[in-house]
Amino acid sequence: MKTNKPAHIAIIMDGNGRWAKKRGLPRVLGHREGMKRVIDIVRHASHADIQVLTLYAFSTENWKRPTDEVEGLMRLLLYYVETQLTELIKENVRVRIIGEQSAFSPEVKEALERSVNKTKHLNGMILQLALNYGGRDELVRAFRRLQANGSEINESAISSALDTGEVPDPDLLIRTGGEMRLSNFLLYQAAYAELYFTETYWPDFHASSLDAAIEEFSRRHRRFGDVK
Ligand code: IPE
Ligand code: IPE
Ligand code: MG
Repeated sequence: MKTNKPAHIAIIMDGNGRWAKKRGLPRVLGHREGMKRVIDIVRHASHADIQVLTLYAFSTENWKRPTDEVEGLMRLLLYYVETQLTELIKENVRVRIIGEQSAFSPEVKEALERSVNKTKHLNGMILQLALNYGGRDELVRAFRRLQANGSEINESAISSALDTGEVPDPDLLIRTGGEMRLSNFLLYQAAYAELYFTETYWPDFHASSLDAAIEEFSRRHRRFGDVK
């Protein structure tokens, strides 16, 4: 029996474009396949009693991509939140959004708000979707909020002012797709996260891949600076 299970798993879902390219397909088909893995992994994590799952779906830097790719991603995002809401409710999943939402179209914003509002009373896994999310942007907005309220600046005040609010920090941070960088994800919150990098492209990341990452996590020794 595994005793050391991550309560909060955060995933940088990378490699959709390369997955498609390898097959001679347009990048957006990689994103479409990637969305199917989002559905599988959310269900699997919820059944595995993971308390929080944070998925990095769109960064503040991803707006630099060609318009048709950005539009394709927005369409998929809308499709995901609209078609999966019933399933998320059935799974008792509470949706939270992190990132700056004002940049999205009214249609996307409404769909996101609906998924948050219709699940806010649920007490199962928290699904945090990082959308137009950047760790630096989040820190800037948090500091502005603290300044506007005349709040004291200390670690717990900063933590609470971040988009993640009272949600505990990630224990395990996974990045698929072979790159070994954070790309502006959870810069403050990942201070003591265990990092797990895999070459697997996100559309090939199945439930068993998540199990392998959780298994590896259970073998890590977290010392948090101590000597134990
Ligand atoms: C991750 O896959 C999805 C997003 C960043 C939206 P990519 O689209 O970055 O795929 P690669 O890295 O180009 O293969
Ligand atoms: C990170 O992937 C962002 C998301 C997965 C949403 P990118 O593909 O945008 O990161 P870089 O450009 O390789 O750093
Ligand atoms: Mg990428």
